[in-house]
Amino acid sequence: MLTIDPQQLRDDIATLAQFVEPETPGTTRRAFTDTYRAGRVWLRERMQSAGLTVTQDASANLIGRRAGTTTAPPVLIGSHTDTVMGGGRFDGVIGVLGAIAVARALRDAGVVLRHPLEVVDFLAEESTPLGSLFGSTAMAQGFSAEFLARDVPGWGVVGDAIAGMGGDPSQLLHPLRRSGEIAAYLELHIEQGPVLEAAQVPIGAVTGIVGIRRADIVCTGRPDHAGTASMAVRHDALATVADIIRATEQAALARPGTVATVGSLHVAPNQTNVVPGQVRFSVEMRSLHWPEVLSMWDEIVAAIHLAGAQRGVAVQIGAYEDSAPLQFPVWMRQIVTQACGRFTHQVVELPSGAGHDGSMIGLIAPAAMIFVRTKDGRSHCPEEFAAHDDIVAGVNALLQAVLAIDARIEE
Ligand code: GLV
Ligand code: MN
Ligand code: MN
Repeated sequence: MLTIDPQQLRDDIATLAQFVEPETPGTTRRAFTDTYRAGRVWLRERMQSAGLTVTQDASANLIGRRAGTTTAPPVLIGSHTDTVMGGGRFDGVIGVLGAIAVARALRDAGVVLRHPLEVVDFLAEESTPLGSLFGSTAMAQGFSAEFLARDVPGWGVVGDAIAGMGGDPSQLLHPLRRSGEIAAYLELHIEQGPVLEAAQVPIGAVTGIVGIRRADIVCTGRPDHAGTASMAVRHDALATVADIIRATEQAALARPGTVATVGSLHVAPNQTNVVPGQVRFSVEMRSLHWPEVLSMWDEIVAAIHLAGAQRGVAVQIGAYEDSAPLQFPVWMRQIVTQACGRFTHQVVELPSGAGHDGSMIGLIAPAAMIFVRTKDGRSHCPEEFAAHDDIVAGVNALLQAVLAIDARIEE
């Protein structure tokens, strides 16, 4: 059986982990930073050394391509190399470096697929104040002019950020690819949860991806002296947000299988002896069942208005960002299940509670994912860890799945 070179993959993961922003915790390589850009310069070289022809598309997705024997659309494999603040070494990274390992194994074995093979490092998957899932959204949906013109304090204009990565925002009003232009999409990723570890299996087949809604909200009250403004006269923006956070938690607790998080707060003036005058914050909700997300959001919006009215604080609910839940096609799941079955005694199927580029690419192409067991289910933190043997099993399953897709479409 054709397999990848485990040592080369280990070296690649270790090298990319050295590209970290100065004075940040864990592995921090946030999208649009100089460190992220430097990591991608190295990545381009790694793609080239695996025999891939490398280009960037208008959304600054880094794509390494290997020709097939036919003019069929490509099989696309990959993930992302940006991280959250204080993240780990594996989220996204094993999907990109694993895809390069697959291309290298095919090249070294002299195997040419019928389909072209494309290895992708999607631009900016993780959430930043500018948004998330940039490269995959551009590929599958495109952006509105309004979104591209959004000016985010401290981060600049969305379109400028994409241009700064080498993209061309003027081409992003329409999807970069259409249905039928990608034969299939496969993404290898760490599970980031506890299921595979509990089942004592190294890898698993993913059934689908949760839907996510994220919104930005601003509460504007009145800054006052923290000693002389009595409790009765205050319009405390942060106390209002505290009410909203509690309501957000309650909305999720009331709906099994859903989660909701307030993960980002910017308090102004953020001063010990001043009543908080303004707070900008995020609300994020997730479920495999979209109606649950919508009903959570309705409940949270009602709580936002109520909290604002009770405390004399103005509330402004900004644009929200949606990615709908996605179920992978049965035939793709079967291919992945069979491929995983070659490297694990029992194939566990599980949904993804994390968001992935696959949720966008799945809108225009048959998609599927393979998960790798994650220590203690921890991710988006410096403790994130996956054993190298498990990663290698996942990449080998990815390789087998690519071969199976190529063979299947030949029938
Ligand atoms: C991506 O990592 C997400 O699930 O937020
Ligand atoms: Mn992540
Ligand atoms: Mn990820």
